[in-house]
Amino acid sequence: MKKFILTAAAIAFGLSMSVAGSAAAADAKTLAEIHGKNWPEATGWAKKDTCMGCHGSYADLAKATAKLEPNPHFSHLGDVNCQECHKGDKAEPELMCNSCHNFTLREKTPAKK
Ligand code: HEC
Ligand code: HEC
Ligand code: HEC
Repeated sequence: MKKFILTAAAIAFGLSMSVAGSAAAADAKTLAEIHGKNWPEATGWAKKDTCMGCHGSYADLAKATAKLEPNPHFSHLGDVNCQECHKGDKAEPELMCNSCHNFTLREKTPAKK
């Protein structure tokens, strides 16, 4: 009997873990949700200036993601519209570069000390 209770508890624990797991996934907020009324509506290249007003220039952003290869904020495309990658209805950016390339974004191997 004792064994049964333990098993039931283990199953209940397992269930609550998986429920918590899926709740966490559902909690990943889209950019539009994070920003609320600060998310510039619709599309258009002009919108990137609004984004930069809060997040800084491409040069600043390139510093923030300098560890990534390729750096999504520094390329031959110059100052791309942010929403090419940062979609309002998504939590994670899409690498629009891959409409032409086949990059896997990775962290640079740290330089040896
Ligand atoms: C009024 C100011 C403001 C504007 C305009 C704005 N943002 Fe933000 N953004 C924020 C704030 C505040 C956060 C939350 C920062 C945090 O929680 O670390 C944020 C978070 C983000 C994040 C998530 C950063 C992270 O650490 O995961 C991204 C990506 C982002 N914004 C992109 C954009 C883009 C693209 C635009 C334009 C379409 C934009 N933002 C416009 C203020 C702004
Ligand atoms: C080519 C795709 C692309 C474009 C264009 C782009 N981003 Fe990003 N951005 C990314 C990726 C990829 C990340 C890294 C997410 C991660 O760390 O997993 C990122 C990260 C960020 C972050 C978080 C930086 C941090 O401190 O970690 C902010 C804020 C942000 N972008 C804002 C912007 C803004 C504002 C613009 C336009 C001026 C912009 N991005 C344009 C792909 C892009
Ligand atoms: C419209 C197509 C297109 C898009 C979108 C594009 N590229 Fe490129 N890219 C090219 C072409 C064409 C070359 C030159 C290819 C060559 O010389 O091998 C190139 C070359 C490069 C190179 C140097 C060659 C290499 O493969 O190492 C890098 C780095 C690069 N692109 C990064 C990016 C990044 C980062 C983005 C997204 C912000 C991006 N590209 C978006 C077409 C594109």
